[in-house]
Amino acid sequence: MPVAIGRSFQTFRLGVLGSGKGSNFVAIADAIAAGQVPAEVAVVLSDVTDAGILEHARKRNIPAQFIAPGKFRTKLDEDAEDSYVNALQKARVDLVVLAGFMRVLKGNFLRSFEGRIINIHPSLLPSFPGLEAWKQALDHGVKVTGCTVHFVDAGVDSGAIIGQQTVPVLDHDTPETLHQRIHAAEHELYPQCVAAIACGNISVAGRRVVWTK
Ligand code: GRF
Repeated sequence: MPVAIGRSFQTFRLGVLGSGKGSNFVAIADAIAAGQVPAEVAVVLSDVTDAGILEHARKRNIPAQFIAPGKFRTKLDEDAEDSYVNALQKARVDLVVLAGFMRVLKGNFLRSFEGRIINIHPSLLPSFPGLEAWKQALDHGVKVTGCTVHFVDAGVDSGAIIGQQTVPVLDHDTPETLHQRIHAAEHELYPQCVAAIACGNISVAGRRVVWTK
């Protein structure tokens, strides 16, 4: 039975999590401001005190908070997980948008927002999950790569695919030039996917995500 998410009668509230520059957050915030995404960013959270994403949010008067990740390097510890979940629930978030958040989400977090967490990854999944996906693609010699927006499940970059955009790999590409073009593609794809979800225009049946409009 397909499951639809997204609502049309109330402002759809996003909670954005990031560890870095926040260019995808900026793309989404700009698309909202331009009337292309019927949503608002309710809160931005980061595990890095001086992450650019927090600065970008504050400039836009969006509540932005650093929450310490705890003792692990690649995931949140249990207390931190609870703090993130509390902050997102307090902000009455409908959808959790990961935008360069460098930690794997687990147990309580996934349960609290089941089916309502999305991520963007810089490759055409299921190829090249994990770190530096653009470099993996270049080293492998593929001629086409891209980016993927997907639901987050307990695996690494393994959830159901919502949308993908291709980027050609050019003969003279370096990891940096390829990464730059993938980033540009991400800035188009992510707002489109968030808009489709906010409008209730996608439904999910197992691994298959169908765009109903
Ligand atoms: C993006 O390349 C995204 O695919 C990956 O992390 C990066 C975040 O970049 N998950 P930014 O912080 O949005 O600029």
